[in-house]
Amino acid sequence: MQPAGLKWLRRYGEARGNEVGRGRRARVLSVGPGDGELDFAFLEGLGAPAAFLGLEPSPRLRADFFARDAAPLPVGTTLALSAAAWPECAGEALEGAYDTVLLNHVLYYFEDCGPPLAAAVAVVAPGGAAVVLVQAAEGVPEIQAEVLPGWRGSDDWRRDVCTADDVEAALRALPCTYERADLDADLDMSAVLDPASDDGVAIMSFCVEADLRGAAPAAVDAVRAAFAKRAVPGLGGGPVLREPVVAFVVRPRE
Ligand SMILES: C[S@@+](CC[C@H](N)C(=O)[O-])C[C@H]1O[C@@H](n2cnc3c(N)ncnc32)[C@H](O)[C@@H]1O
Repeated sequence: MQPAGLKWLRRYGEARGNEVGRGRRARVLSVGPGDGELDFAFLEGLGAPAAFLGLEPSPRLRADFFARDAAPLPVGTTLALSAAAWPECAGEALEGAYDTVLLNHVLYYFEDCGPPLAAAVAVVAPGGAAVVLVQAAEGVPEIQAEVLPGWRGSDDWRRDVCTADDVEAALRALPCTYERADLDADLDMSAVLDPASDDGVAIMSFCVEADLRGAAPAAVDAVRAAFAKRAVPGLGGGPVLREPVVAFVVRPRE
């Protein structure tokens, strides 16, 4: 799913760069930038100097961010990372402080995506926007809904991570307007569909958030079957799972 998000963010950055205009630094806040791959695509697209602050609790990912071998950013761009967690670190002092607030694939970490979204909208400066990248309900979330109740031994089951539909429901309750763009993305399923592949088991474990290594072969086969029935030919001809991503551009209501 990353290539679709990268392309979209670079283009979005280009559009913002033209709007913000040259000669003034864009103020950018990123919640959970991870190793920075998506954020750098945005900053490169912006093509104008930015004051970037990333909130990244993981020391390893903070190190990866600064070790990134990225194209040179516009002169005047500053990059800073903090270990502070969102939204606890959002306070009144930040209100209206950022031209762009990035929340790329980070809302999965919250039990309820409403509070981190509300806090993000509150720190958007006039004319600015919060950008949310999040998985759509199609693909892995459907597979989770199919196989996880069996794994957890309960019908009283709730998916752990949010999807674009949960985000859209939360946005409707906030003082904001938003635009939604659905981006096509695929997950290569060659390894998943190969019963002899350890990589396939690792990919399935990651997707369904359950460690399938050492699980009974019949249980692993059941998960593989849930993937297999959704396999479609990809652009290269190999089997893929449609795994769309949604980009929301969110503006505080004036
Ligand atoms: C799935 S990764 C996404 C990384 C990157 N934005 C991307 O899309 O490639 C989510 C990131 O959010 C960070 N994170 C989790 N909870 C957070 C919080 N409360 N505040 C800020 N970052 C958080 C994690 O450490 C992780 O790096």
